[in-house]
Amino acid sequence: MKIKRIGLLTGGGDSPGINAAIRAVVRRAWKEKIEVIGYLGGWGGPLEKRTRVLDRESTSGILPIGGTILGSSRTNPFKIDGGPQKIISNLRSDKIDVLIAIGGDDTLGVAHRLAGYNIKAIGIPQTIDNDLALTDYSIGFSSALATITDALDKLHTTAYSHHRVLILEVMGRNSGWLGLLGGLAGGADVILIPETPFSVSAVYHQVNERKRRGKHFSIIVISEGASPKELAGQVVQEKEVDAFGHVKLGGIGDSLGRELNKFLDLPARVTTLAYLQRGGISDPFDRILATRFGVAAVEFAGDGLFDKMAALQGSDIVPVELADVLAASPQVIDDKLIELSALFD
Ligand code: F6P
Repeated sequence: MKIKRIGLLTGGGDSPGINAAIRAVVRRAWKEKIEVIGYLGGWGGPLEKRTRVLDRESTSGILPIGGTILGSSRTNPFKIDGGPQKIISNLRSDKIDVLIAIGGDDTLGVAHRLAGYNIKAIGIPQTIDNDLALTDYSIGFSSALATITDALDKLHTTAYSHHRVLILEVMGRNSGWLGLLGGLAGGADVILIPETPFSVSAVYHQVNERKRRGKHFSIIVISEGASPKELAGQVVQEKEVDAFGHVKLGGIGDSLGRELNKFLDLPARVTTLAYLQRGGISDPFDRILATRFGVAAVEFAGDGLFDKMAALQGSDIVPVELADVLAASPQVIDDKLIELSALFD
């Protein structure tokens, strides 16, 4: 089947590098004289027929820019009465042959479910959390790591000057990729992630042990989804769940700080990186990865490879089944990486 028109959307939390993927889809499609229609605001776009034409001109200059020129949302069409049917009919009237969805497990989960309605969908992995399975990296993770590393470098200088314990809370939902690799890259002394059980008292002892060795400061990285034994479960900012059933995590850094301040003689202070780690320009790795994913997705469409995701495995971009990605997510962190981080206390 000759592809004439591709639909493209970006869903879920944004991240640096998405625009590089949009540009790459448009450039590769242009070579084959395929038109690209952008849907605005995640799955809300095809639901409400909110579109814009994407061509060489309208995507020129967007390579380094963070966020997504298409806008994003956490709209779940399967939570809306007649949602999937509306999408099918809108895609049909827009003459879309193939739909490319850029996003994390929620966005790609919808793409996969729509395949059951005969929609030809292809996924591109994008999430700063890096929790999608079967791809070594997702778009945005590397840029977010760069921001975390920069934050930790800055926290170090003020921590040693003032003899403080500085806690940095990072995102990642139930996954510790950002916390672990960010902490490693930024030389954190204590790294606390959802995958590894820990106790506040162990953290207290680690900080005191450093002090005994003459280190009158400590840097702690904690993932928003981490929960120490002494506290009752994860700390949430909002109890209501979003359209995909997620609570809004956040606040564990402050809770840990309060607990440590009860016992430590060095003052503990907290920085929450929040949306700063999701915003800003993309780093070179994400730009190249996103470009390769975007080009690959159009080529998969040409080769009739649907219900697949473009994945980075080693140094190759390969098609993997969306069903397999969703079944194997969240991507497990190798124990060796966790063991490695324990060396640097
Ligand atoms: O999935 C990306 C992410 O940034 C998570 O790390 C975080 O928990 C969540 O999104 C925040 O969601 P929202 O943008 O809805 O506040």
